[in-house]
Amino acid sequence: MNEVKIGNNPFVYPMPMVLVGTVVNDRANFMAVGWVSRVNFNPPMIAVALGKFHYTNAGIHKNETFSVNIPGIDLMEKVDYCGLVSGEKTDKSTIFDVFYGDLSAAPMIRECPLCMECKLFNAVDLPSNTLFIGEIIETYTEERYLTDGKPDIKKMNPVTLTMPDNNYWRVGENAGKAWSIGNNFRKQSE
Ligand SMILES: Cc1cc2nc3c(=O)[nH]c(=O)nc-3n(C[C@H](O)[C@H](O)[C@H](O)COP(=O)(O)O)c2cc1C
Repeated sequence: MNEVKIGNNPFVYPMPMVLVGTVVNDRANFMAVGWVSRVNFNPPMIAVALGKFHYTNAGIHKNETFSVNIPGIDLMEKVDYCGLVSGEKTDKSTIFDVFYGDLSAAPMIRECPLCMECKLFNAVDLPSNTLFIGEIIETYTEERYLTDGKPDIKKMNPVTLTMPDNNYWRVGENAGKAWSIGNNFRKQSE
């Protein structure tokens, strides 16, 4: 056996970087988040795991709404900044061109290729984090990010993150068709 033990870190490789938006004290606020996942098929839900004491959390608890915005790599410095400073001390409401959709307290970012507005479904209290689960009410994008009506990862050019080395990465080349390429192996093995 050649396996090496490297501890119990949650190695999810890579993670998509997003900006979580909400209104706190009557002001739009955005925080950088790497701990994000789709969690329910129908209705569509997404979850973000936020350390319990972030400024953002108070806004989500109060409004019961938040947004999940997917930035392109061109926004990397601004994204990182939103993860370095807190809305408690620094006004982050003017960094981006903000717009609102159907929900009044889910600020979204025009510069982001894709923005989802969410209604809070549940806030799960974990030992150090709160897992905010949101039902996606609507998604906003622009025609230029779509191919055949679907978001095109090459056009969106999202930012990904690895931890614990703490690096941002671009998305690479297409490697194969999901729910399909396994049929090659199926043919050989059956
Ligand atoms: C790359 C990166 C990823 C981050 N991911 C998360 C995360 O998933 N969950 C979290 O609670 N904080 C995360 N943070 C930290 C928050 O973004 C940071 O504490 C931010 O200042 C909180 O903003 P707020 O105080 O305005 O709510 C991340 C920071 C960076 C730079």
